[in-house]
Amino acid sequence: MSKNKTVNGSETTHSDINTNSQIIIKDLWKVFGRDSKRVLGKKYRALGKEEIQKKTGCVIGLREINLEIKKGEFYILMGLSGSGKSTLIRNLIRLVKPTSGSIVIDEKNLTKMNNEELLNFRRETFGMVFQHYGLLPHLTVLDNAAYGLKVRGISKEDRYIKAKEVLETVGLKGWEDYYPGSLSGGMQQRVGLARALANDPEILLMDEPFSGLDPLIKRQMQDELIELQDKMQKTIIFVTHDLHEALKLGDRIAILRNGKVVQVGTPEEIVTKPVDDYVQEFVRDASPAKVITAGTIMEPAKIILYAWEGPKTALTLLRKNKRRAAFIVDKSHRLLGVAQEDKLEELLNKPEKVEKIPESALRRVPSVGPDTILEDMFSIVTENQYPVPVVDADNKFLGVVTTDQIFESITPMGGEDNV
Ligand SMILES: Nc1ncnc2c1ncn2[C@@H]1O[C@H](COP(=O)(O)OP(=O)(O)O)[C@@H](O)[C@H]1O
Ligand SMILES: [Mg+2]
Repeated sequence: MSKNKTVNGSETTHSDINTNSQIIIKDLWKVFGRDSKRVLGKKYRALGKEEIQKKTGCVIGLREINLEIKKGEFYILMGLSGSGKSTLIRNLIRLVKPTSGSIVIDEKNLTKMNNEELLNFRRETFGMVFQHYGLLPHLTVLDNAAYGLKVRGISKEDRYIKAKEVLETVGLKGWEDYYPGSLSGGMQQRVGLARALANDPEILLMDEPFSGLDPLIKRQMQDELIELQDKMQKTIIFVTHDLHEALKLGDRIAILRNGKVVQVGTPEEIVTKPVDDYVQEFVRDASPAKVITAGTIMEPAKIILYAWEGPKTALTLLRKNKRRAAFIVDKSHRLLGVAQEDKLEELLNKPEKVEKIPESALRRVPSVGPDTILEDMFSIVTENQYPVPVVDADNKFLGVVTTDQIFESITPMGGEDNV
């Protein structure tokens, strides 16, 4: 998975300033209209979007945007129509020119480049996928996919080799000679994606790419994009107004309102801690069970038994804590299973002395990883009498999640805040 929702790992995505950011946007403003710079002066800049429009005739596209996007990050821009999502993307590829502020990508300051440098940088760095596909109807699928390479002056032979390769990547092998008009919406958008990927862009910009598709096709395209991103590890900036899409795809989400970023966070942060009513309204229908992970809510196990200490010690510990069973680990803290009181007694009653508790005497229980979302744990907690153990990739025991914890954390706004 490309998604990184680990909350106890060092790679946790936060809205903190991060020095290894690939894209750094500082104090970016875009004002549309005549003499737009005057809007940035003291007299107007603090006013609301509507007031500015009334007084100056200028439209605020973006105001005071500060964002940092990491290499390989799947970054979502979300907000109501007119909130500035497309304008932000267009500023990045300089289809529109910022009114003020700076954009630095791969340590290069776009706001300082001349037109030729910008054009080259744009072609080398970005791939763009639009909502309405943007395919050329008189060109075949192959020529559409190869179009960006043609613009860059790549020979026909070379661009066809590359275009065929990316068409295969997006599942369109065999469709090279068709025209876009004979393809379904989903397939046309695959061509759009293939064309963007053919350039081998560092950064993929996708402006509501799946908004026009039927729900089932949309879901399928999302799944394929996740799989593709797992292999490609590109930086993706993806615009959507579909919360579920944002939660499913995004490592981080920035929410825009009237040209301003009102919140940046992981899907989990956005759903569980919306900063204001606007964000709250967005996430109203979101199910916390789809974003909260085992790693976030797990707690340390009350007691842990150690297999090498033998059945006598284990039994003593259990009884001291008034329990009939507990999780048991080996010397590397790997989870072995659950040791039950009666099984330990059997071991003690054996004629020969048992030094170390054998795995055959333990009960195996299902475990989950720290990234497992709560929704995927429902079936386990309802079938299982024990808390669910959380283990890392090496099966090291990290903590436990109880049924109560799960239900508490998916109850809207949590427990005590709501009294
Ligand atoms: N070329 C333009 N001229 C004037 N206003 C524009 C232009 N492009 C966008 N806007 C305005 O900027 C704001 C943000 O638009 P946009 O970025 O298209 O929003 P979104 O993509 O979030 O729907 C809107 O108020 C829109 O009317
Ligand atoms: Mg838009």
